[in-house]
Amino acid sequence: MLFRSWDQPPDPGWPPVATITDRTGTAHAVVSGHHLVRRVLADPGTFRPDNALDAVTPIPVAALRTLARHGFRLPPALANNGLPSHPGIRAVVAEALHPDRVTRQQGWLTGLVRRRIAGLAGRLRSGAPVDLYADLAADLPLRVLARLVALPDSDAAVVKEFSRAALELFWAPLDPARQLALAELVGRYHAVLRDCADRAGGMVGRLREHARAARLPPDTVVGALFFLLVAGQETTSQFLTLLLHRLTREPAVLAGLATGGVGVDEVVEEGLRHDPPIVTWRRVAARDTTIGDMPVPAGTSVVLWLARAGRDPAVTGHPDRFLPGQPGTRRHLAFGAGAHRCLGAALARMEAAVVVAETAPLLRRVELVRAPWCPDNLSFRMPDALMVARALPSPADLGLVVAS
Ligand code: HEM
Repeated sequence: MLFRSWDQPPDPGWPPVATITDRTGTAHAVVSGHHLVRRVLADPGTFRPDNALDAVTPIPVAALRTLARHGFRLPPALANNGLPSHPGIRAVVAEALHPDRVTRQQGWLTGLVRRRIAGLAGRLRSGAPVDLYADLAADLPLRVLARLVALPDSDAAVVKEFSRAALELFWAPLDPARQLALAELVGRYHAVLRDCADRAGGMVGRLREHARAARLPPDTVVGALFFLLVAGQETTSQFLTLLLHRLTREPAVLAGLATGGVGVDEVVEEGLRHDPPIVTWRRVAARDTTIGDMPVPAGTSVVLWLARAGRDPAVTGHPDRFLPGQPGTRRHLAFGAGAHRCLGAALARMEAAVVVAETAPLLRRVELVRAPWCPDNLSFRMPDALMVARALPSPADLGLVVAS
């Protein structure tokens, strides 16, 4: 269940906090009640973020050696930083991702998405299927991020390969051979990131100055870049894919978007609540404590089931239905909460709003050929493809009356 939590059907009997042991024998306190998830996120003293980037399948010696050979290190920087250095690093990144800077990218992104949709519409008209993940969503967040923050000058395909490998290495159930192969990929790209951390200007340069002035370990800048590339852009392309897939199954919402009865921002928010790309996020208990009625010893891995918290009946009247604008739709915890709340929330929302607005007319004319498949993972959905084809016109569209 831990590695395919999105497949779990709604269960009113499921406890708000439960102990689940994974296949390596580690017990996790899995928290799904909305109020309890909030409480844990709001108390970083008791529930520290230190384990946010720990490999859920312990990495064997051979793969550790491979990582070490490439100089791979992930010192506390952002999501995994419970130290006093966190607010200063966060402030530098927050400035780079400020909502005003994000808004200035909207026109450029709209133009890019429009051109891509026109190309896809042509291919669909010719009868070919298209993949809305690979052909539309996969690299958009990376391209926007590169305009906001200096990134290594690598091909988008190389960055995607690295970031998906990292999500697998740290959050998937794996065997040692796969861990070794992933360690090679992740380690090799980490060396590229180090080079960028040493030279780039903009936010990276400011992080470097900050790290020097605050006497932080030099790898702090690499740690921040690693997280932005892995969680920031990859998460958003996953969200775009999941949301587009959802919309292919919601003709009433697509019709509402066409008439203006449903707002684009409401669709994005309901998407974050109903189909978040990060399904769980971790904390570690710093001392013996309790969550709800459950005793939680110091050192316990606490898995916050963010996706299920958004489906808590205390949040919305229709938690398992996709109803943009329903009361409570914005109360999801898809971006976490508290001191580590996602710094890319405004960016992800802007990107999703542009993609929904520009893609909705096309979605009304397609049918699903193949739904995305998501590999086993503790935290990330990682959809692989979203294949659609031109929908054949119905008899009613052709003005035909079907004899009964
Ligand atoms: C739909 C897309 C996204 C989702 C669902 C998401 C979700 C999250 C979650 C759950 C956390 C952990 C919060 C916590 O511990 O309380 C987080 C942290 C973070 N996210 Fe996002 N994220 C998304 C997109 C982005 C983007 C586009 C960026 C930047 C390019 C970004 C940058 C960050 C950063 C820097 C942190 C760490 C903040 C800190 O520790 O101070 N995220 N995100």
